[in-house]
Amino acid sequence: MAADDQQPAPDAPLHVAIVMDGNGRWAKRRGLPRQLGHPKGVEAIRRVVEAAPDQGVRWLTLYAFSTENWRRPAGEVAEVMRLLKHYVNSDLDKLVKEGVRVRILGRRDGLPDDIAEIVERAESRTAHNDRFFLQVAFNYGGRADIVDAARALVAKALSEGLKPEDITDEVFQAQLATGGLPDPDLVIRTSGELRLSNFLLWETAYSEFVFPAVLWPDFTPAHLKSALDEFQKRERRYGTVTDDVLVTN
Ligand code: FPP
Repeated sequence: MAADDQQPAPDAPLHVAIVMDGNGRWAKRRGLPRQLGHPKGVEAIRRVVEAAPDQGVRWLTLYAFSTENWRRPAGEVAEVMRLLKHYVNSDLDKLVKEGVRVRILGRRDGLPDDIAEIVERAESRTAHNDRFFLQVAFNYGGRADIVDAARALVAKALSEGLKPEDITDEVFQAQLATGGLPDPDLVIRTSGELRLSNFLLWETAYSEFVFPAVLWPDFTPAHLKSALDEFQKRERRYGTVTDDVLVTN
């Protein structure tokens, strides 16, 4: 595909990916145990899922739990698991009704049985929706995902005779947890940290980044709007040069 073909129209629906950082600090600043920041983080998720479609976002991908987050204290890990379950149990009917398709990105093996079941239920009940696409990265790591894609391709090479030259960007992308999704246009990381932390390593090759200082539990639709306004000012070149440079040379 020519580089120009990849450029979305200015008013195209957007894929926004968010690293929801700062729940622990939000709680600590109030003298609370870290894990009490996470339920407030879920409230922010609800606000953003509700507001995003009206702001021109069609795909929203949230980084909720990484393959490295298992190293957190057991009580905090249990709280994040409980919240995912609680969110799906309480909000799934509404998501189904509002045309939201839910997809969980991440390794399924290693998830506790009740979480694997809830993930399966969220995906199957929303499988026919197409108004808005909500991806939740859970037990997700960008490197683990790339390793899993490589393993799947090697397995195809052995079983179906896939050849090295058959492996293109598109073929590789199709094996990722995000297979078939457009790449994120915009990545937002809250709380002022300036890292990707193993999130969507392949998919963010040409994403724009915005780092608002706000902690995730305090994130509102107004913060989303201002990140999107900032995004609209960026010039995306996808490795090429701008039209005016092409014209003058
Ligand atoms: C980052 O803050 C937040 C997380 C690692 C967890 C986010 C998960 C949820 C909000 C619950 C998951 C539920 C659903 C519905 C997807 P941090 O703890 O790293 O904050 P800190 O950087 O201040 O320590």
